[in-house]
Amino acid sequence: HIDPADHVRKAIRSVPNWPKPGITFRDITPVLQDPRSFRVLIDLFVYRYMRQRLDLVAGVDARGFILGSVLAYELNLGFVPVRKKGKLPFDTVAEEYSLEYGNATVEMHTDSVRPGQRVLLIDDLIATGGTMVAASKLLQRLGANVVEAAAIIDLPYLGGSTALKETGLDIYTVCS
Ligand code: PRP
Ligand code: HPA
Repeated sequence: HIDPADHVRKAIRSVPNWPKPGITFRDITPVLQDPRSFRVLIDLFVYRYMRQRLDLVAGVDARGFILGSVLAYELNLGFVPVRKKGKLPFDTVAEEYSLEYGNATVEMHTDSVRPGQRVLLIDDLIATGGTMVAASKLLQRLGANVVEAAAIIDLPYLGGSTALKETGLDIYTVCS
């Protein structure tokens, strides 16, 4: 009998020197490809959030879409996307942030959250935390109550989860 988090951890692939020399990329595609590890992963989130009276799941472009949409469906909630700049057609709010490798902007539709809604923010991984900080700022600007920021993986040596906690966000990651 294996611990669910260990099951997920064992399925994550580390790819050295990608996308740049010196970066070891944590690749979650093997977790999704294997039906058992995909289910174990999603069920960890389902059991954590099923009694949290959430209103909405917000997933970060692009890998947060895969996790967030399945989780929202299982929890009988709506899903809203936090997208990279220039992809959303309606009125948007935007936040710029810096990444482990570059700069970027995330956007949300202005009508994607109603003030006071209890929102779970989800992505695959926390590196510097910049993406999650920007996404949670967007949600807060729209009046959301960000109940927690969840990810599969935390890279603690980059300080992202610590920085996120310092902004007052609650964080949950399956493994680091
Ligand atoms: C990766 C990852 C997170 C973010 C984490 O996405 O999926 O969203 O970086 O880094 P941070 O904690 O330093 O902000 P990326 O921006 O590479 O986009 P992609 O999903 O479109 O590949
Ligand atoms: N894996 C996936 N996404 C990432 C990583 C990583 O190692 N680092 C920054 N974003």
